[in-house]
Amino acid sequence: MTIRKATILGAGVMGSQIAALLVNNGVKVQLLDIAIDDANPNKLSKQGYDSIVNPKKSQLYDATFEGNLTYGNFTEDLNEMSDSDIFIEAVKEDLKIKQDLWKQVASVAKKEAILATNTSGIPINLIAQGLPEDAQQRFIGLHFFNPPRYMKLVEIIPADNTKPEIVEELKSFAEDVLGKGVVLANDVTAFVANRTGIHTLADIMYRAEKCGYSITETDALTGKVIGRPMGTYALRDLVGNDVGSFVIQGLLQDPGEADYFNVSKRILKLVENGYLGNKTKKGFYKKEKGKRLVINPETLNYSALEKPKLPILDDLGKKLEKNLAIIFEDQSKEGIFLWETLRNVFVYAARNVPLATDEFIDIDRAMVWGFNWRQGPFQLWDSMGFERVKKRILEEGYELPEWILERDNGFYTEDMHLENVTPISELITDHVWDRDSSSLNVVGEQLLFKIQTKYNVLDDELVR
Ligand SMILES: NC(=O)c1ccc[n+]([C@@H]2O[C@H](COP(=O)([O-])OP(=O)(O)OC[C@H]3O[C@@H](n4cnc5c(N)ncnc54)[C@H](O)[C@@H]3O)[C@@H](O)[C@H]2O)c1
Repeated sequence: MTIRKATILGAGVMGSQIAALLVNNGVKVQLLDIAIDDANPNKLSKQGYDSIVNPKKSQLYDATFEGNLTYGNFTEDLNEMSDSDIFIEAVKEDLKIKQDLWKQVASVAKKEAILATNTSGIPINLIAQGLPEDAQQRFIGLHFFNPPRYMKLVEIIPADNTKPEIVEELKSFAEDVLGKGVVLANDVTAFVANRTGIHTLADIMYRAEKCGYSITETDALTGKVIGRPMGTYALRDLVGNDVGSFVIQGLLQDPGEADYFNVSKRILKLVENGYLGNKTKKGFYKKEKGKRLVINPETLNYSALEKPKLPILDDLGKKLEKNLAIIFEDQSKEGIFLWETLRNVFVYAARNVPLATDEFIDIDRAMVWGFNWRQGPFQLWDSMGFERVKKRILEEGYELPEWILERDNGFYTEDMHLENVTPISELITDHVWDRDSSSLNVVGEQLLFKIQTKYNVLDDELVR
């Protein structure tokens, strides 16, 4: 089935952005939300619609796409047979609300329609419970990352009764129409990316507190130098301290996961006092008169940022591979802290194959596409030296699954890459030139000319 028409259920933060993403990719979208006002039943969906078509918010690639977007409400627009090819639900993270809405949707959806929920944490099987059998076969998790237009990752989570054809159809829609990178996840708490990401954030905060590292010291140690876009506390502020704590609570309540998670006292204190991060304009950091301040988590007072003075930071630079080699050898307190940070990521990622996903490469994809890491856990492990890392993990008393114990070589072979399309660099058969400003290469029977100047400016050498 070609997906031409979609109904998006919920016009909040995610629903409205998912609607915009689909409209931008040529899909007709009906955006629905709950009717909270009898006099104006489309109030909420109209707000979502307005935010999508508002030129200042640049949600649509082209203003004319607006013609493919309509809005309505659950009461008036879900009571007769629908011709939508897919329903994507992004309503409040509440099991009962989702279940009730899906029962209503199942009664009007056509018999081929895909029924997808964007829940970030409720088990897909639970939401599907109570739906007619044929609807359960088309029910599936479709987890976008915020902001969906820019984040490459989409997790697809089949439930126990989902038909394999539905998984395939949705995967090709997400990849080929929406241009996303798909990771197939099992129906486990927090799926793949959030469980791996939240695990390392929680682990770092817990150990940083024990080691007595300040917020800025921890962030300097756990951001760019280990290939992550920002430090641990800065990321918590961005995501929202309450949201992060909610996901950790979910994992702590999962008997299989509880042993792997520790709770940070700093986070609890900030959440209790309403310091939720960027959305409340105060978290581990805040901005005042254009200056960035950092919190003292004991007193909740802010002070000016100071550059952390940890000797290892003088040695760690922009080259990730070099940093990993230093971290492996460094016996200082910070060297050990960083080794343990990575070791814990490796051990946790290892146990999640096949628990959370069947292929180890999908954990790397999830972290690179969903958390913007430069390398995923298994790529980092390879970069640090597969054998020596494995040996040290075992010597330190940690368990590794059989599929890793049996492996002699690293995880990746030369022809494996995260992208689901072959990189053009691998298709080049001959080089004509490779200058600072441009290169000309042969790709099959075609020539590939590439501008390599800063900001793609046309300089003298380029046009010579
Ligand atoms: N915000 C994120 O970063 C993010 C990322 C991935 C997935 N999600 C998931 O997407 C879903 C929506 O999250 P959001 O951030 O867009 O939330 P939101 O609060 O912005 O939107 C929630 C939507 O639910 C609707 N709603 C509230 N009460 C309802 C009810 N009783 N019946 C029906 N609809 C009701 C609201 O009108 C609104 O449209 C959640 O399941 C969330 O876990 C969120």
